[in-house]
Order: sequence, then structure tokens, then C-alpha cells
Amino acid sequence: MNLVTGATGSVGRHVVAGLLAQGHKVRALTRDPARASIPGQAEVVRGNLGEPEKLDDALRGVRAVYLMAMGGAPQQFAELAERCGVERIVVLSTGDVLDDVEHQPDAVAEVHAAFEHAVARTGMQWTFLRPNEFAGNSLQWAPQIKAGDVVRAPYPLARTVPIHERDIAAVAVRALTQDGHHGAKYVLTGPQAITHADQLALIGAAIGRTLRMEDIPAGQAREQMTGYAPPAIVEAVLGQLAAAVHRPSAPTDTVERVTGRPPYSFADWAREHAADFR
Ligand SMILES: NC(=O)c1ccc[n+]([C@@H]2O[C@H](COP(=O)([O-])OP(=O)(O)OC[C@H]3O[C@@H](n4cnc5c(N)ncnc54)[C@H](OP(=O)(O)O)[C@@H]3O)[C@@H](O)[C@H]2O)c1
Repeated sequence: MNLVTGATGSVGRHVVAGLLAQGHKVRALTRDPARASIPGQAEVVRGNLGEPEKLDDALRGVRAVYLMAMGGAPQQFAELAERCGVERIVVLSTGDVLDDVEHQPDAVAEVHAAFEHAVARTGMQWTFLRPNEFAGNSLQWAPQIKAGDVVRAPYPLARTVPIHERDIAAVAVRALTQDGHHGAKYVLTGPQAITHADQLALIGAAIGRTLRMEDIPAGQAREQMTGYAPPAIVEAVLGQLAAAVHRPSAPTDTVERVTGRPPYSFADWAREHAADFR
């Protein structure tokens, strides 16, 4: 049995689909089964990673876990999983985590490093997935695109290597179900570094419109983002974007090495999600 946390999430839903497609058993964790849309072949279980003391049933009979860095109780979850007999655990971390440092660069890296460290301290086989920016982050522009041709956003020249969430999931499925991934820290990217302004242009091409990005000051973005994210996370995200203007990430070949096929491009992702922007 494979326990998929974040089964309703942008990556987790593809992990569920990928495991089922290969005939593996899936137990999907969600805080709200009534709202969750999860394929019928999966077993659905209610649970909150923030309440690990209530997760015994979710973990019973589970061999491998796909773990989101959510809920703020990494140590308790990792210890419980090991006690319950889990053999393998794949953590959705982030490319911002640094190894062998006393302090992580920001709050986002801090949260994910805590999960990595807790899991690495156990005797389970572990794999860390460290993706670059998700292609799906661009969905945050959808309301503006639906309203007009200009998107106002900070750091249009931030150059990232956006990855299709299905590619992250494809690597997760391999690590959950095949040998040879224990101890791997996979830095996952799409095939190409592109700016946010270019991402927007590709979304425009996918929906047959010419879209343009207009820079807004970081202070204005901070004000908007503080409405839905804690200040330390807002600072981390804006800091990463600012850094990506002058120090863009480079593509890695990890998706292709692990899955045997090249990663999807941002243009592929945009065509697949055109309806979300119309
Ligand atoms: N976005 C990026 O560019 C990026 C880059 C690198 C790493 N990451 C990391 O990837 C992860 C996914 O982020 P996302 O924003 O795209 O989220 P998401 O996958 O769209 O949604 C969050 C998922 O986590 C589950 N969840 C949230 N809190 C939970 C809790 N306390 N207990 C159990 N499940 C919980 C939700 O499940 P229910 O609501 O069904 O319970 C939902 O399935 C995050 O850790 C993020 O930091 C993101």
C-alpha cells in the first residue's frame, strides 16, 4: 500500500494517478474527504499532518509514503511512520534547501529542511524531491488574464526553470515503487530557463492572445501577498524571485534520467491548462 499525502494537491493528484495507472494500491490522505476529488480506485482516508497522533489508521499496512512538508510536525510524523512499518518515504521538498548549512536561506527552505532532516534520521529508505518553480504558479495570473491583456506582477525578468507538476509526480512514482532511489536528493526542473514575462507570452500563445507583463514594485506585491501568506513566506518568495533575476537556476537532467523521457516544456503545460486562463 502507498500512502499519498497532499493527494488533492497540484503534484499529489498526479502521484495518485501515476501509481494507479501502474496497478499500485493507493491510500489518499485529505483533511476533507467530502470535498476531495480522488479517483474511485483509491482508498480515501481523512487525516491532518498537523495531528500525527491521529494518523495510525492512515499508516496501517503502508509500505511507502509520498510526504508533503505540511502540518508542522515532521519529527512526530517520521517517527510514527517508521513505527508503523513504513519502509520507504519520498518527500516533496524544494530546490531552495541547502545541504550542510547551519541556517537555511529563508523560511520556505527552513520548513522543508525540517522534513528532510526528520526523515533522514529514521531507518526508512528516503528520497528528497527538490523541484524548481512549479509551472502551475502561473495560475496566480489567471484572474488578471481573464480581465485583460496586462498582468501586473513583480520581477517579470525573474528567470526560473518551471516544471510541470506531472514530471515531479513521475519521479515520485519511480522513487516510491522502484529500488535505487534511497538517499537521492533530486533537483527537478523543466527543460528550459525562461522569464516570467516569457511564461506569460506562452500562456498568451496557448489561448490565442497577446499578453504583456507590467512590473510592480516588490512593496506592492508584498502588500497583496500578505493577505494570504505569512510574512516570512512572502519574504522568502519575493527574495527567491529577486535572486532569479540575476542568478537564474539552470536546468537539470534529473527528470529524464529517472523517468527515461524528457520533461514537459512550459509551452506544453500552458496548452494543457489553456482553459484555466480563458
Ligand atoms: N509552488 C512552487 O513553485 C513550489 C516549488 C518547490 C516546492 N514547493 C512545495 O510543494 C508543496 C506543494 O505546494 P502547493 O502550494 O502546490 O500545494 P498543493 O499541492 O496545491 O496543495 C496543498 C496540498 O497539501 C495538503 N495539505 C495541506 N495542509 C495539510 C495538512 N495539514 N495535512 C494534510 N494535508 C495537507 C492539501 O490537502 P487537503 O486540502 O485535501 O487536505 C493539498 O492536497 C509545498 O510544500 C511547496 O512548498 C512548491
